[in-house]
Amino acid sequence: MNDRLDAPLKVTGRAKYALDHNFPGMAYGYVVVSTVAHGRMESVDLSAAEAAPGVVAIYTPFDQLGLRAAVSPLMGETWVPLRNADVGYYGQPIGFVVAETFEQARDAASLVRVTYAEKPALLSFDEGLASAEDAPESRGNPPQIEVLEDGVESIRDVFAAAPFVVDNTYRTATQNHAAMEPHSAVAVWADDELTVYTGNQGSNLVAMELAGALDLDVSAVHVINPYVGGAFGGKGRTSTPAFLAAVAARRLGRPVKAALTREQVFTATAGRATTLQKVTIGADADGTILGLRHDSWSSTAMDRSFVEPTSHGTSREWYATKNLSISQKMVPLNIPSTTFMRAPGEAPGSFALESAMDELAVALGMDPIELRVRNSSLAPPGKDLQWSSKHLDECFTIGAREFHWSQRQPGGRADGDWLVGMGMATAMFPALRFPATVGITLNADGSAEVATSGADPGTGLLNVMSSVGAESLDLPPTRITPRLGDSRLPPGGMSGGSTATASVGTAIMLAASEVLDALVALASAPDAPFAGEVVTYADGLVHGDTATMPFGELLQAVGRDSLSAKGSSAPGEELTKHSFSSFGAQFCEVRVHRLTGETRVSRMLGVFDGGRIINDKLARSQIKGGMIWGVSAALHEALELDSHGRFATGDFASYLVPVNADIPDIDVHFVQYPDTFHNAVGARGIGEIATVGVAAAIANAVYNATGVRVRHIPIMVEDLL
Ligand code: MOS
Repeated sequence: MNDRLDAPLKVTGRAKYALDHNFPGMAYGYVVVSTVAHGRMESVDLSAAEAAPGVVAIYTPFDQLGLRAAVSPLMGETWVPLRNADVGYYGQPIGFVVAETFEQARDAASLVRVTYAEKPALLSFDEGLASAEDAPESRGNPPQIEVLEDGVESIRDVFAAAPFVVDNTYRTATQNHAAMEPHSAVAVWADDELTVYTGNQGSNLVAMELAGALDLDVSAVHVINPYVGGAFGGKGRTSTPAFLAAVAARRLGRPVKAALTREQVFTATAGRATTLQKVTIGADADGTILGLRHDSWSSTAMDRSFVEPTSHGTSREWYATKNLSISQKMVPLNIPSTTFMRAPGEAPGSFALESAMDELAVALGMDPIELRVRNSSLAPPGKDLQWSSKHLDECFTIGAREFHWSQRQPGGRADGDWLVGMGMATAMFPALRFPATVGITLNADGSAEVATSGADPGTGLLNVMSSVGAESLDLPPTRITPRLGDSRLPPGGMSGGSTATASVGTAIMLAASEVLDALVALASAPDAPFAGEVVTYADGLVHGDTATMPFGELLQAVGRDSLSAKGSSAPGEELTKHSFSSFGAQFCEVRVHRLTGETRVSRMLGVFDGGRIINDKLARSQIKGGMIWGVSAALHEALELDSHGRFATGDFASYLVPVNADIPDIDVHFVQYPDTFHNAVGARGIGEIATVGVAAAIANAVYNATGVRVRHIPIMVEDLL
């Protein structure tokens, strides 16, 4: 039961992803992207493209496509392609060629000639810093926060008086999700109703965006999301192929399939911002943090549609301090949009904060774990509400023991030409819930279905639904069929923000009690087998005063095929009582080659407090994936712009991601304290937190091994020569 329910289909190629859907008369779309970084399209010459074999239609901003702005209730306003002729970055979708075959569409796309009125592009983050703007509010936090103890006028005074101060600047690189499955869609119209097959993180949210963009009632849009080949923020919003396939299919009266090429994925979707972060920590000789300041600048596209909340993600919550100053600025550039990527805010933010904590430990001559334990927060600084459940110290204790932390020496150790060092870091990610509705159906054959519209992009939500459904209905998991990935199912279960287990799990429990109440009422109704009796339910059986009947037989006896009920949950009163977060401790050992500067991660351990763990195997797998992503950010991934604003590393030949040989065995432990203050299931999120702190743990290990403090990621060979 621990095994991933959809694994056999996925590994044998039987799982049908969006692009695997085919329909009679289907045409193929190919997205055309801009070749300048800033300007306006003055005209397009389509004569050669239109004359190319197989071309059905070509759409550009000069057609009245009728696409409107779209809003996702959870993700905000979405960029919709081809609404005007403005170009804000290199690789922006500016056209859509539809042909009888994919190859014909691609060939014709190469014949589209665009005349641009080019404008100077702002490409350099360092130049953009001069025109940085205050970021919009994030998670309810304003762009600047200052908490000072009574009598303190300025955080600078705290640092001036502190016996120990570290004050440094850190940088993190632009990343793309680079999911295995490129963004794609197949759109089919029938009777004024639109069906779109497209991989995403929440099919009902995509249906709402498509309805908004196409000016349709949401009931006329059906989004089917059978399997998702990777997401984590990159498929939270409706993709360009989905918008364009949908509108083209309506105009042409035939199904349209479209997908981004791998290179287009790097620009025609959104990625992680570049950040620059200044962190200042003042401390007493015993390690007590007297003041903490974290100022961040994050790149954003010129539409300013998303700002990586780097400072808010870390310094707002991690350590107890009486004096805290946070600022968050954005640096608008002519770059593709930025968006949510696994642990938005915390992933880059933890690199800076947790590197700075390591630097402070070095300055103090203190063990970095001891420094963190000493400053552990009972509540987010400046907020009244204590954490509902926090067992971070236990994570450190277990981690230190299992990782043999006591063998770590200042200056590391040498093993031949390899310099070996250990590092650690804290991980935190707020525990959130989103509104969710789940439908449960009991069937006359004794099976049950648990359904919600969300997605399982590899997180294991299907299994969670099966397990929580089984325990809530008091049935073996084999009798539960979980259903996801269809916007017509009850709305909920968006896979984002590490919320799905807590949100959907709670709704399952409520739906189960609804459906079992209805079952008991049905059983004791007049003319029913237990008419007038006191009826109870347990273990799949309906118990009356003298007899017992499996629920399926009871449904048959009253002439029903099935019995359904829904349950809805949303965050509520708990938010007035506690603060909620998951916690973890990341440990890492690296080997740096003395002569070549090559860094290899040789051991990793993560210990996490995520409340109750529903499925140990899949939770471990989720955590390992996140830790690997952290290695990737620390040592591999970086998108760099050339002087034209084109990503110089925007393909898999040059955008490095780790391969198996880059990743050691990863050890994962959980401390399990169910957090029923947060939700009835007791589970908090474990998706995003897995990657938080990893890059800092690696950089801290590199420092331990080599004595070189690298304050940017990815860490390159040349940093260590
Ligand atoms: Mo997210 S960054 O889609 O959890």
